[in-house]
Amino acid sequence: MERYEDRIRELLAQMTVEEKVGQLHQCGPSLVGTFDVSFEELLNMMFDGRISEEEFGRIMSAAGRDFHEDDLRAGRIGSYNGVSDAATANRLQKIAVEETRLGIPLFFGYDVIHGFRTVTPIPLGESCAWDPDLWERTARMAAKEASAAGIHMTFAPMVDVARDARWGRISEGAGEDPDLTAAYGAAKVRGFQGTGLGAPDTLAACVKHFAAYGAAEGGRDYNRVDMSPQRFCEEYMPPFKACVEAGARAVMPAFNDISGVPCSVNKKLLTDLLRDAWGFTGVTVSDSNAVAECVDHGYSADRTRAARDAIMAGMDVDMASGVFSQELVKLAACGAVPMEALDRAAGDVLRLKFELGLFDHPYRSDTEREAREVMDPAYRALAREAAVKSMVLLKNEGDTLPLKKGLRLGVYGPLAASRSDMLGSWAVGADGEACVSLLDALEARGETVVRLTDENWEQGADCDAIIAAMGERKELSGEAASRADIGLPGGQEDMLKKLMGLGKPVTLVLFSGRPLAIPWAAEHVPAILMAWHPGVEAGNAVADVLFGDENPSGKLTTTFPAAAGQCPMYYAHCNTGRPGGRGKFTSKYLDAPIEPVYPFGHGLSYTRFEYEGLHMLRGQSALIASVAVKNVGDRPGDEIVQCYFRDLAAKRVRPVKKLAAYERVHLEPGEARRLTFEIPYEKLGYYDADMNFVIEPGDFDIFAGGSSADCLCERFSL
Ligand code: NOJ
Repeated sequence: MERYEDRIRELLAQMTVEEKVGQLHQCGPSLVGTFDVSFEELLNMMFDGRISEEEFGRIMSAAGRDFHEDDLRAGRIGSYNGVSDAATANRLQKIAVEETRLGIPLFFGYDVIHGFRTVTPIPLGESCAWDPDLWERTARMAAKEASAAGIHMTFAPMVDVARDARWGRISEGAGEDPDLTAAYGAAKVRGFQGTGLGAPDTLAACVKHFAAYGAAEGGRDYNRVDMSPQRFCEEYMPPFKACVEAGARAVMPAFNDISGVPCSVNKKLLTDLLRDAWGFTGVTVSDSNAVAECVDHGYSADRTRAARDAIMAGMDVDMASGVFSQELVKLAACGAVPMEALDRAAGDVLRLKFELGLFDHPYRSDTEREAREVMDPAYRALAREAAVKSMVLLKNEGDTLPLKKGLRLGVYGPLAASRSDMLGSWAVGADGEACVSLLDALEARGETVVRLTDENWEQGADCDAIIAAMGERKELSGEAASRADIGLPGGQEDMLKKLMGLGKPVTLVLFSGRPLAIPWAAEHVPAILMAWHPGVEAGNAVADVLFGDENPSGKLTTTFPAAAGQCPMYYAHCNTGRPGGRGKFTSKYLDAPIEPVYPFGHGLSYTRFEYEGLHMLRGQSALIASVAVKNVGDRPGDEIVQCYFRDLAAKRVRPVKKLAAYERVHLEPGEARRLTFEIPYEKLGYYDADMNFVIEPGDFDIFAGGSSADCLCERFSL
């Protein structure tokens, strides 16, 4: 990194204040047509009923895009969000390089969250593979495809620990565990950034949303966050730190406030922690319009103040609000923003551009490479592998699954034929029609399918088995898609009851962006496969699992509550002084069980695994735990072996279980393996009341097994 500092200094010395501020303005192309509102406002208008869905569609198809080329020529734009084709990117880049005074190239950012054109499962789904190698490979693929379309930065990975199933953005991250999310985030950073940003097939990773966005009060999107510093450091920071350590070159501050200070203007976060404590030298990019929204938060008195607050806190790039571009020049002129702050921010942007090699190779792709990379067949194969590995077999009573081939299958459900819903949230660069629906796949396999509808569902009585493809359409999760009721939407449960009444074996295939509250289904439906939103190869992957061509191996990374009223619900909770139980004065709800419907780490296979012999050894710097696992069924299969610990008494109450290590292992029928986990003693530590990190001697319970709720347990004294 040092190698660019002289060039950055030289360049800064030649730049006017306007040009420095230009580097900090990230422009999103605005829509132009017979209206003059932003895309976001247009969406708002459809949602609040000012325009119909049809009108919205008409406006969008007639709209053009304005890239503000005059501003670009004048050096007032440093980067774009929302350009996703090489021709447009190169056209704009040419203006930046050839027509601006200093020829500083642009960078292009985009939301490549779970694949670009070849869409892989939503992150929450993919996290259920517990497979860092897979996470890295899918990110590498996304980087190749997206960089070929002229993109340089992805606004990913999203590593917000999320423990509230009501929050729509739970779909975008790796679930509820900090360590698993850390491993997921670091793997994604490695995959996106490859061997170094100089290579044209890489993307700079912009880790988001810094920080604690997943803890939004009540699971309502954008809501406030207020928590102890200990909890913040133990539960919400590890994934960000891991991504920074993995070399992520950008960080996106979150929309929310933390204890009253919006993240966009939070100096403790953006400077003291990120830069000073962690040594981050990359770029901070605001969330969309978030700098201006500090006024709505009631933190900054006006847009001028918001601009000053943000840059002084450590924000480099203002995405979309235009506040930096409108306010910073005059703030610099009157001395309210010192030149050092502008130089730091512009310097961070220039450093990234040097690292991306843009000064020497401003056109990192072209239309030929773009055409070559799009949806390469090998990419589809990887998307299918990822989708298979992300699926979680929640229940399989009496071996309902796998299905035999050649049965007469009754297929019901709003998601059976849907292609575009398989994409899930944030697949902005993708074509829904490129997805394989469940029905597409069944037909392609030559299965006999009777399509059941609300009208003819009695025909299910003539079928050998029924598949109910239910859950959430893609709009029901993701940003601004929190739900107060997380049950099956739209009367689906009533229909499920009718189908069950036919007396045929029913398999519920759930497509969704969040854990759903399905206590009735969990009790009555014999087989349930959680497919999430699996991406382009959805139907093929579901069929692979349903027919047993693939043995399911996914394990939940998020708890399934029985009702929204139990949220937030997560395995690593602390006990109260009156732990939940049957007695009157215990911590529980009167009308919901204390246990989740499906716990963190749960997931079945078509074979069975047994555990024995959990042993511990005291190593120099780590506790060594080992456990034997055996495939006692008659099929080969993968098991995700999990190891947890509990600190039995400490000066701050500790979680009843906390993930310490895990490993995915493949076992042939009858094969046994002893797995060894090294658990650094540091993992057993915590922040005390004065924020000192301590590793306290004492008793610990160590657990190992195939789910957080089904483990062997041994005591260990430190
Ligand atoms: C808003 C979202 O919060 C963020 O995740 C995304 O990257 C930006 N918009 C840009 O699209």
